[in-house]
Amino acid sequence: MSAAVGNMSSRSVLAACVAAVALGMTASARADDMMVGKTIATQGTAKGVAACISCHGAKGEGNAAAGFPRLAGVNAAYLSEQLSRFANGERQSTIMQPFAKLLSSNGRSAVALYFSSLPPPAGIKADDSNSIRPSDAGAWIATRGRWSQGLPACAQCHGPGGIGVGATFPPLAGQPAAYIESQLHGWKKGTRPPGPMALMPVIVSKLSDTDISAVAAYYAGNAGSSGNAAPAGSKQ
Ligand code: HEC
Ligand code: HEC
Repeated sequence: MSAAVGNMSSRSVLAACVAAVALGMTASARADDMMVGKTIATQGTAKGVAACISCHGAKGEGNAAAGFPRLAGVNAAYLSEQLSRFANGERQSTIMQPFAKLLSSNGRSAVALYFSSLPPPAGIKADDSNSIRPSDAGAWIATRGRWSQGLPACAQCHGPGGIGVGATFPPLAGQPAAYIESQLHGWKKGTRPPGPMALMPVIVSKLSDTDISAVAAYYAGNAGSSGNAAPAGSKQ
């Protein structure tokens, strides 16, 4: 009887120790990944991967003029998945494919973790309540869609203000207009893989080139001091 109790308690002590060690290991493994990710992001690698921040910005904020996307505050699983798609060639980009291929799968996850931990550009609002008039095609498509064509509002998946939802729906807010446009055209041309449930290819099949420019400008404008913001008053 007492032996059984003794056994149980030593077993639960053992279980507690195992849990504590596992927790400690998870925390330090995460810290290690973060360090590896930061080194890749800021210095690149000896194998010839360029420092990510040279294009994606010192804080991962992106580069509006060049159309390089923002990575800061974007979900880690999403970023890591995109890097794998570049690496296996499903997502085509002459710039990103070679870098993604040169990184190990651990390196890709680590650098994704690092960028996801950075704060999103200031000024992004989970809000679409500004200036929604039918005459503003971008804002209208973003927030209302076009039901005559069965086109849902972008905000239904990408969240209010395009702030992004979980690992599946990346943020659009604060992405350069040129980047958003290029991705939408990428689905039309098939240079970007269909993604979860092939949702985006269906969406882009209902967008004209004019719609694409308008909705890209709308989301690029939803950022404050990131440098991606449209000039004040440009949202009609
Ligand atoms: C020479 C400039 C350059 C460098 C350096 C660079 N990138 Fe990129 N990155 C781009 C461009 C351009 C795109 C858009 C590619 C496309 O059209 O799909 C991009 C896209 C991405 C995307 C997809 C983002 C999204 O929202 O889907 C990720 C993730 C990414 N880069 C991560 C990295 C990481 C990590 C590094 C460093 C290892 C890096 N990039 C280095 C230019 C660069
Ligand atoms: C039914 C859900 C859904 C709707 C509605 C939707 N999207 Fe998406 N969108 C997605 C998913 C899922 C992805 C991620 C695709 C992937 O992983 O490759 C995505 C990705 C994107 C990307 C790529 C972002 C990046 O960082 O590379 C852009 C740009 C985009 N959507 C624009 C739009 C626009 C503009 C609209 C409205 C006209 C819209 N989406 C409506 C589901 C949706």
